[in-house]
Order: sequence, then C-alpha cells, then structure tokens
Amino acid sequence: NKYRLDGPAVKKLLAPRNNGPHFIEKTFDGIFYTPDDLRFLDRVCGNLETLERPAQRALAQAALIRSCLKKQPRGVFTVSGDLSHYDDGRRDLRLTIEEHFIEQVEVFNCVVFDNGHRHTVKRADVFSLKPNGVDLVYLDPPYVPRSDDNCYIKRYHFLEGLSCYWKGQRIMEETRVKKIEKPYTPFSYRKSAIKAFDKLFQIYRESIIVLSYSSNGFPDREELESLLRRYKGSVTAFEKPHRYHFGTHGSVERAEVSEYLIVGR
Ligand SMILES: C[S@@+](CC[C@H](N)C(=O)[O-])C[C@H]1O[C@@H](n2cnc3c(N)ncnc32)[C@H](O)[C@@H]1O
Repeated sequence: NKYRLDGPAVKKLLAPRNNGPHFIEKTFDGIFYTPDDLRFLDRVCGNLETLERPAQRALAQAALIRSCLKKQPRGVFTVSGDLSHYDDGRRDLRLTIEEHFIEQVEVFNCVVFDNGHRHTVKRADVFSLKPNGVDLVYLDPPYVPRSDDNCYIKRYHFLEGLSCYWKGQRIMEETRVKKIEKPYTPFSYRKSAIKAFDKLFQIYRESIIVLSYSSNGFPDREELESLLRRYKGSVTAFEKPHRYHFGTHGSVERAEVSEYLIVGR
C-alpha cells in the first residue's frame, strides 16, 4: 500500500457539510467532549465516504480514533460529564479533537510503507474463519476479566462505535455513558474459556501459534501450555514484567503482572 492522506484528501475530510449526520452530537452531548468536538467527529465521519480509497478511509479512521483516545482523560470511556478534575494541564487534554486529528493524520501517514505484498484485514468471529496456509498466527484474545472495569467494551465502547459510526450496534440507553451492548465471547467466561482456547489452537494447529497472555488471566499459564501441547511438539514461554495503570472511578488501580508470549511450534 502506498496511499497516504494527502492535502486534497484532508481537505475533503474537513469540508463543512450542510446536511451531514448529527448522531454523535445528539447522543453524546454532555457525556464526552465539547459540542464543537462532537460536531467535528460527525463531520469527518460523514465525509469519510468521499474518499475513494479504502486504505485512505482506514487511515482517517485510525487518526480519528487515536485523537479521541488522546483527548479522553485516562483514555477510557467509563468517565463522563465534567472531567475538569482530571485536567493536569496536559497538552493532550487542551487540544481540540480537530487539532489532534491534524497531528494524527501526519503520525499515521508516516507509518505507511509498501513491502510488496498484498494484505487483507477481516473483522470477524475467529471461529468463523477458515485459515489456509498461515505460517504464524498471533493471538491476543481477551481473558476472563478480574473486575468489571477490566472489560474492553466498558472501557472503549465509544471507539468501537466510532469505528462503524454505531451502525448495527445497539446503544444501551439506560447507561450514563451510552454504552453499546457487549458482544458475547466464550473467552470472557470461566465456564467456556478453556474449551474456546482448545478450539482456537485446533483451528491453527498447522501454524506457529504465538499467544499473548498475562499472569492475572484465566485459564492459568500451565493450563494454556498443556492445551497447546495437545497440538504442538514444542511450547516455549517468554516473560516480561509489566505495570498496569487502570483508570477507575476517581482512583487508579495499579497492578504488577507478567506479560507472556507463549509460542507453540
Ligand atoms: C486484548 S484485545 C486485543 C487487542 C489488540 N491486540 C490491540 O493491540 O489493540 C482482545 C480482542 O479480541 C476480540 N475478540 C473477542 N472474542 C473474539 C472472537 N470470538 N473472535 C474475534 N475477536 C474476538 C475483542 O473484540 C478484543 O478486541
């Protein structure tokens, strides 16, 4: 891929619209960001379709999502309303989303390179894919959450919605932050996780399997390694200590955990 967001593409994205969508402004007023920020998000989302190249649309979406992440205190969408007590003078909180977006377009433009191969991206249930000829598969599934605050959708629902302009998503109107419904995944429940890992390893038994795992996850490392040994002759784990900072309501939870890469070949 050689496509970047050049001047004309950015001009199209920022162009004012008369009859553009207002979904974000209407839904998230008083919950996240300023009214101007919300209108900007609606404008850019509405203009996305004016870019012909899917690769350019993907770059614009990535820049938009990162802009929202930078502007949101602690980068999580569990907190809403007046967030001035989080304001420690950080530049990221001062810039408008539009200013962030202009910067992020440049950041993402700089990472585009062409390695001469064709690449495909799919957004699908891992169990619905029929992999063929995969040399190496990197798996980073969710683990059974230790606490509800650990849940991906709870933290990042706004970005998940933004990635598809909430199309096909049901907003839980009764929630303060207008969360979307959490999609079911067997990895998130104790009663189904082990079977799900077994099925996953079986699907990719012909490939080198690289699995991300953190020491606070379920199933535990020994269990995962023994599941992997059912399909792989050699299983090795690489360890790296890691300190998490979770933003929770008004407090920060810190946890020392080890991150592992478990490799089966
Ligand atoms: C730990 S996150 C991955 C983070 C990612 N590696 C990154 O760096 O941004 C786990 C992801 O697995 C996805 N997921 C959960 N169950 C899935 C399934 N059955 N099929 C495909 N993806 C699934 C979740 O939507 C979530 O985005």
